[in-house]
Amino acid sequence: MCKVSNLFPADLSIHNIRNYLVGLNKKVTLLDGSQKQYIFFDNAASTPTFTFIRDAVNEMLEWYSGVHRGAGIKSLVATKAYDDSREVVAKFVNANLDKNTIIYTKNTTEAINKVANRLNLTKDDVVICSLMDHHSNDLPWRKYATLIHADINDDGSLNLSDLEDKMKKYQSRLRLVAITGAANVTGLINPIHQIAELVHQYNSKILVDAAQLIPHRKIDLKPDDNPQHIDFLVFSAHKMYAPFGTGVLIGPKEVFEKGDPDYVGGGTVNLVTENEVEWTHLPDKEEAGTPNLIGAVALAAAIQMLDKIGMDNVAKHEMELTKYAYDKMNNLNGIEFLGQRNFSSLRISLEF
Ligand SMILES: Cc1ncc(COP(=O)(O)O)c(C=O)c1O
Repeated sequence: MCKVSNLFPADLSIHNIRNYLVGLNKKVTLLDGSQKQYIFFDNAASTPTFTFIRDAVNEMLEWYSGVHRGAGIKSLVATKAYDDSREVVAKFVNANLDKNTIIYTKNTTEAINKVANRLNLTKDDVVICSLMDHHSNDLPWRKYATLIHADINDDGSLNLSDLEDKMKKYQSRLRLVAITGAANVTGLINPIHQIAELVHQYNSKILVDAAQLIPHRKIDLKPDDNPQHIDFLVFSAHKMYAPFGTGVLIGPKEVFEKGDPDYVGGGTVNLVTENEVEWTHLPDKEEAGTPNLIGAVALAAAIQMLDKIGMDNVAKHEMELTKYAYDKMNNLNGIEFLGQRNFSSLRISLEF
């Protein structure tokens, strides 16, 4: 099997990557029947993919077979590709797989629902999210626990002192602070490590919804014994150029080792008798049914592509584009800014 890295052009960089975007020159038909070049502005929802990720997928399709299911060569290749992808993910965010597990889901939403379910929360438990969080990082907590919202400031940024006040107020019941890494509405970035440190002082855990952060900034979970460590990280591959149906949940093994998995069935068990079930090891225990091989291969290829370009270059380029857009919009009449009017005051710096 060809290694994904061989699929990248040697001179691939942030400056020429646009040429490899799938669907870049797509024309669409207008109401008057004319054809127009389509400009895609919806990357925060889902990104298109790149030719080399499509090539990696096409190559894997020739080997497509059941993962963890067979002894045939195709099944062995498929299983290795699937399992190897987790190592790629772990390296990308500096996850320690001795203590943590990487569970593949459909998307961020499913990953958050899984954590909410598997934490065995009750209505006596408090989870704090914020008013800048996506519904996917809000509704699952409401379902299982008492959810408290930290406030936001007038410019849309997180009100850190309100967050701390609420941690203090509910500290005896606080099980988790679930916070977005970057807001999907404003693009503002939260100081996740500063928040993690605070959360740990209150003997609680932090979940970072990285759906919007992961394609834009280098994320480092930091060692488990570091007070700034991120306990749970969730994100979606379709927002990072791999739209083939994979989501990622990284979290402490001890949480998922306890109790029954939320979905049960094939792949989750070591042994089943008529009356007994012995659950298998992680992460398989939490990935019921035939896994999404293609999604995992695409995700690994996308991560390797981002690594080749360098997340620092991605972040710098995004800052330049944002500054450019701000400068141009500031010179237009009739534009009302919701939040900061000045680029320099925005909470979207390279460091967080
Ligand atoms: C910040 C944030 N969190 C969670 C989600 C949910 O992601 P998904 O639809 O991939 O589950 C989104 C989607 O836009 C998002 O922007």
